[in-house]
Amino acid sequence: NANGSKAGKTRNIAEKLEESGKNCIIFYGSQTGTAEDYASRLAKEGKSRFGLDTMVADLEDYDYENLDAIPNDKVVMFVLATYGEGEPTDNAVDFYEFLTAEEVSFSGDNDPPLDNLNYVAFGLGNNTYEHYNVIVKRIDAALQKAGAHRIGEAGEGDDGAGTMEEDFLAWKDPMWTALQQKMGLEEREAVYEPVFGIVQREGLTKDDPEVYLGEPNKMHLDGTPKGPFNAHNPYIAPISKSYELFSVKDRNCLHLEVDISGSNLTYQTGDHIAVWPTNPGEEVNRFLNVLDLADKRDDVISVKALEPTAKVPFPTPTTYDAIVRYHMEICAPVSRQFIATLSAFAPDEEVRAEMTKLGGDKDYFHKKINLNHLNIGRVLEIFGKGQKWSNIPFSAMIEGLNKLQPRYYSISSSSLEQPKSISITAVVESQMLPGREDPFQGVATNYLLALKQKQNGDPNPTPFGLSYDIMGPRNKFDGIHLPVHVRHSNFKLPSDPSKPVIMIGPGTGVAPFRGFVRERKKQAENGVPVGKTILFFGCRRSTEDFMYKEEWEEAKAALGDKFEMVLAFSREGSKKVYVQHRLKERAVEINELLEKKAYFYVCGDAANMAREVNTVLGQILSEQRGITEAKAEEIVKNMRATNQYQEDVWS
Ligand code: FAD
Ligand code: 2AM
Repeated sequence: NANGSKAGKTRNIAEKLEESGKNCIIFYGSQTGTAEDYASRLAKEGKSRFGLDTMVADLEDYDYENLDAIPNDKVVMFVLATYGEGEPTDNAVDFYEFLTAEEVSFSGDNDPPLDNLNYVAFGLGNNTYEHYNVIVKRIDAALQKAGAHRIGEAGEGDDGAGTMEEDFLAWKDPMWTALQQKMGLEEREAVYEPVFGIVQREGLTKDDPEVYLGEPNKMHLDGTPKGPFNAHNPYIAPISKSYELFSVKDRNCLHLEVDISGSNLTYQTGDHIAVWPTNPGEEVNRFLNVLDLADKRDDVISVKALEPTAKVPFPTPTTYDAIVRYHMEICAPVSRQFIATLSAFAPDEEVRAEMTKLGGDKDYFHKKINLNHLNIGRVLEIFGKGQKWSNIPFSAMIEGLNKLQPRYYSISSSSLEQPKSISITAVVESQMLPGREDPFQGVATNYLLALKQKQNGDPNPTPFGLSYDIMGPRNKFDGIHLPVHVRHSNFKLPSDPSKPVIMIGPGTGVAPFRGFVRERKKQAENGVPVGKTILFFGCRRSTEDFMYKEEWEEAKAALGDKFEMVLAFSREGSKKVYVQHRLKERAVEINELLEKKAYFYVCGDAANMAREVNTVLGQILSEQRGITEAKAEEIVKNMRATNQYQEDVWS
């Protein structure tokens, strides 16, 4: 809406292109930053290989009724993630609703309305979800319907199969060829042109109050953080409790509670909490060392966009250390295309040849880098043979790496019971891989582990503990704090508590169901009639990872025969027993409850468990109701459509 535009900033996309002289705009619909990252990569490649004047744009920053005013010597690219149950990402909701509305009205009177529009489309999805890449499919169809001209195929990347990066690479080359033909572009020798300029701020030191040392925004820098707390502005929440849930030494699962009473944050049982991690000191040091920036880590710099449409992804002036520690996803999987780009800056010819091979050979890259979960610092260290990569412009790192992303957790407390305190149940990511000596360790969960160790005064962290700056920028998180915000979800108990519920949550998938069960226990204590509540929980062994054991007993005491827990210990017998096997054993009762309109919930692993549970439920309905499997699947689909079947799954 035009009135919502900030002074001096147009929301009219055709006007913007005209004004800035660009001929290619790349829109992203991104939730966790991957689509945004791919959009930037397309912008860079279009510019360096084909001389396009590119710009990247957040869908949220523009209006769409002017899409018809974009002349046909320009091209618009859409990089669109599908989120959750086939939903657009938050920043793409308005765009999606606009284009897929029954009647779409554009600004002019072209017929067909988008006859002038040339576009390119790539979707990011996950085939373990039912609505695989539906957003890009529907947008593509809507654009076609309005008469727009697609160049190349509408690409689809699959996170579920773990092939997102390769799907993207395989899609983009034929797309560029088609675009070259359509726009008459000449390919040229790609030369690196920095998008950001780094300015050394000689007059400033890191102790000056205007220098950002990891604060997410001005309010935090000034020490006056205020709500609303959201994806741009975390609340620095005190941790009120933290303890271990497993009783084995080699694996950790944390229960952590944060106090939100000092904020205006609210939540409802079943929502998600976002945790803002920082990078572990070991990886920050590795990264700065290999780039030969260790001596300059505390130098104060400003980062300036060299192009009017580029956005610096963190506040400045700041230091190298702060950028790397708080703002860059330095531990994540490495992109093969980025490795190819970095080969130009290799410290010697031999290293350059190896980097070029890695960048060009998908299988070799997979074997050497992906399988060992190497991050960018480790790649440069190993393949640079210990040499420093002092030729890499820091701008290339800002452009090539993602912004450090918050991680989401299913809230495991009940808002009825504790509205001002949120609990998290997280398994600490740490795995040994055949090709490396030290374990691969997840960023956020090891940060949570470090916080827990600090709070409990544990002087000797677990064997694999990493070191984090848990006191935060300028030691402002005095005491133990965690930056968070809340994301509301549709994963909710029935509004009528007397309805029966069936919950399937093995492993940390039990997190939201702890909240659900506690909520029902509280309702029962308040004298509210509560329906049958069955929880299917699975773990390895009753003596190792059976989390919240005492709490389930308390719930049983309060809810009596209204609460039942069905257990599947997968490693106690000679055969694996999983939650879906137990579900099948209870087929008669499950069918009866569903006939009484019980709600059915699944939480946890999206890749296998959730899909298998879905299949088993179809089999149960088919057998119990004497109908074909196809008909049963239809019923399950319908249960999903009407929210009787709800999923909260992740991979
Ligand atoms: P990361 O560092 O982000 O690594 C995560 C994974 O990415 C690794 O296992 C690996 O597969 C891959 N990876 C990372 N770096 C590399 C590399 N260099 N090379 C190759 N692969 C790599 N988790 C819970 O424990 N409890 C919950 O209740 C919960 N709820 C969730 C709810 C939602 C809606 C979502 C989306 C996720 C939820 N998760 C939950 C998962 C959680 O958000 C995190 O993904 C998880 O805790 C791991 O985070 P991390 O930062 O420790 O790991
Ligand atoms: P496993 O590790 O012994 O195979 C929590 O992680 C529990 O979920 C564990 O008992 C684990 O068993 C089990 N699990 C693993 N794969 C599963 C699947 N496909 N479906 C259901 N449960 C699974």
